[in-house]
Amino acid sequence: MRQFSEETLTAAVVARLKDTKDKRFKQIMTSAVKHLHAFAREAHLTEEEWFAGIKFLTAVGQKCDAKRQEFILLSDILGLSMMVVALNHKTAPGATEATVLGPFFAHGAKEYECGADLREGATMRGEDTLVRGRVTSVDGKPIANATLDIWQAKADGIYDVQTAGEFELRGRVKANAKGEYWFRSYKPKFYSVPDDGPVGELLRATGNHKMRPAHMHAVVSAPGYQQVITHVFVEGDPYLDEDAVFAVKDSLIGRYKKVNDPAEAKKLGMANPFLKLEWDFHLAPERGVKARKVIAPSDAIA
Ligand SMILES: [Fe+2]
Repeated sequence: MRQFSEETLTAAVVARLKDTKDKRFKQIMTSAVKHLHAFAREAHLTEEEWFAGIKFLTAVGQKCDAKRQEFILLSDILGLSMMVVALNHKTAPGATEATVLGPFFAHGAKEYECGADLREGATMRGEDTLVRGRVTSVDGKPIANATLDIWQAKADGIYDVQTAGEFELRGRVKANAKGEYWFRSYKPKFYSVPDDGPVGELLRATGNHKMRPAHMHAVVSAPGYQQVITHVFVEGDPYLDEDAVFAVKDSLIGRYKKVNDPAEAKKLGMANPFLKLEWDFHLAPERGVKARKVIAPSDAIA
């Protein structure tokens, strides 16, 4: 076949996918081709505009390295990450809601027992915070020995993996046999997504800000239960209604309460007064649901 027009070209490209062995891949490619062509037609793309798009995507790729993942950031600010989460993680009644993983997860964080001090080795101080709670099933029964992968930004809003230093404010905390967990850290602060690359330019060009409301990341896993990739946001944060990556859910907003108890603060090795976040995670039974893959930037590069 030859001589394609804007009316016949899409069908011709889709027809060339006919020998794709993997059925699911064929379906995804067919959909991608149809929607990309529809996008070009709807916007009536000029050649200069499409070349600008190619230059942009090239710059996004060139900004990526083993630690920086500009494509995840692009997916996040376009709401595509949250769309994929919404499509694939219908929250079971009573279960903790899922949200974006974000670009700053890292494999190989230090493992801690209950009572961890994630401030260990921190290069910047913040407001001392005790985080405690339980990991339970949706029916409220405690889940023994769950693992909580925790990470958050430093006081300057930068994540450890964005700089050359060691891991900071990050750890894999084990809950105990009664489903209880607790650890010490700092209160998270709102921060800017990295804006020194093409995604930052895109945000500026579209008149959008780059801020994310303060949050702590958590991936909670336990055998026999669906893993949840989630955040705990800070009640009262000024950016809760305008998160640059659309990740806020009402059920994920936690209260950091001020505690004035010098004896308790001393016991915990924290300043007085300190903050306390009480937060329970509720997991749904696995029932054949595959765990969501936790992808670090290094996985995407490999
Ligand atoms: Fe974050």
